[in-house]
Amino acid sequence: MKLFDVYPVNDINIVKAQGSYVWDDTGIKYLDMYGGHAVISIGHTHPHWVKKIEDQLEKIAFYSNSIKIPLQQELADKLGMLSGKENYQLFLCNSGAEANENALKLASFHNGRKKIVAFSKSFHGRTSLAVSATDNRSIIAPVNETENVVFLPFNDGETLQKYFEENGKEVCAVIVEGIQGVGGIRVASKQFLQIIRKLCSQYDAVFIADSVQDGYGRTGKFYAHDYAEIEADIYTMAKGMGNGFPIGAISISPKIAPKHFMLGTTFGGNHLACAAAIAVLEVMEKESLMKNAEEVGNYLMSEIAKIVELKNVRGKGLMIGFDVPEELKNLKKNLLYKHKIFTGEAKPNVIRLLPSLGLTKKEARIFLNALVEEISFLHAQNEKTSVSY
Ligand SMILES: Cc1ncc(COP(=O)(O)O)c(C=O)c1O
Repeated sequence: MKLFDVYPVNDINIVKAQGSYVWDDTGIKYLDMYGGHAVISIGHTHPHWVKKIEDQLEKIAFYSNSIKIPLQQELADKLGMLSGKENYQLFLCNSGAEANENALKLASFHNGRKKIVAFSKSFHGRTSLAVSATDNRSIIAPVNETENVVFLPFNDGETLQKYFEENGKEVCAVIVEGIQGVGGIRVASKQFLQIIRKLCSQYDAVFIADSVQDGYGRTGKFYAHDYAEIEADIYTMAKGMGNGFPIGAISISPKIAPKHFMLGTTFGGNHLACAAAIAVLEVMEKESLMKNAEEVGNYLMSEIAKIVELKNVRGKGLMIGFDVPEELKNLKKNLLYKHKIFTGEAKPNVIRLLPSLGLTKKEARIFLNALVEEISFLHAQNEKTSVSY
């Protein structure tokens, strides 16, 4: 049987990982500035996380949601405390798309409406409604097409205000990332998030904060939306939540009341996933990883901003993006194959950094040195090429 070929892959087989490093099957060590796509929050194979999963595995890995699973309440208590949302309610699922799908569905159950407002360059996942709210025509199948989603320009409060004035009573929910990830690290402005909050309250629409990529402490605050000093009605999360163990969730405002069977899942909230997620929160707290993300992120950003060739350095904490000019287009590839450093990208020419929240300044320096060295190399090479013409 062949694998269904949906991913362009690097020819590298990672067989071992620890902290901010991974090793391939030939023993080569790589610095991971990509965190397996923002998933590695507390560091690869963190010993506390491994132990907690191993211990749980020996007791029970799974039973269905037809019984009490006290680990779910333990996770809810810890998450409520660390995110500053102790009065919110937790629903557990398995991925980011599923979290957004459930959030949108719940919003519609709550106010009985259908219209979803999403924004240009948004990415919310690949399930039916989540992908419909994603601003990328090429991944929306004909069956996912719906008139229930409208796309408005990102960070444009005036257009949003006008839309609400004309259609506010029909709006079910507004879904927005605090920092667009796949869209190229585009930070939602404080004013924009505050206007969304105001309009959602005024028109009884549900404010959904997609925190799948930018949440879980990555930006230095638990949710990136916290920078705007607002409270969303639903926060969706996944990636960093399990540090690689698949788990997703939605954190729901007390004003939205549950009813039996309105949401449900077979695997969501299983014993093993909860153990992994509790371990993540324990390590985040014990090792002050949000503070570290902020400090090391600020350091990285200020150092990258000194490199004149790289433009438009932006982000928060350890969610950073910068534009790479066309003449340095091999930068990402060379960082990987020559300097053994994984980075992320966003089309057409953005490098995205999403490392473990435990990244040290020393590790950040290794990346910065490689960046400077490779840029000089590419420059020299470009000059040589232009001379020989
Ligand atoms: C902001 C955001 N929302 C949702 C998703 C979908 O998450 P998943 O791939 O776990 O379904 C992603 C994935 O990249 C994302 O970045």
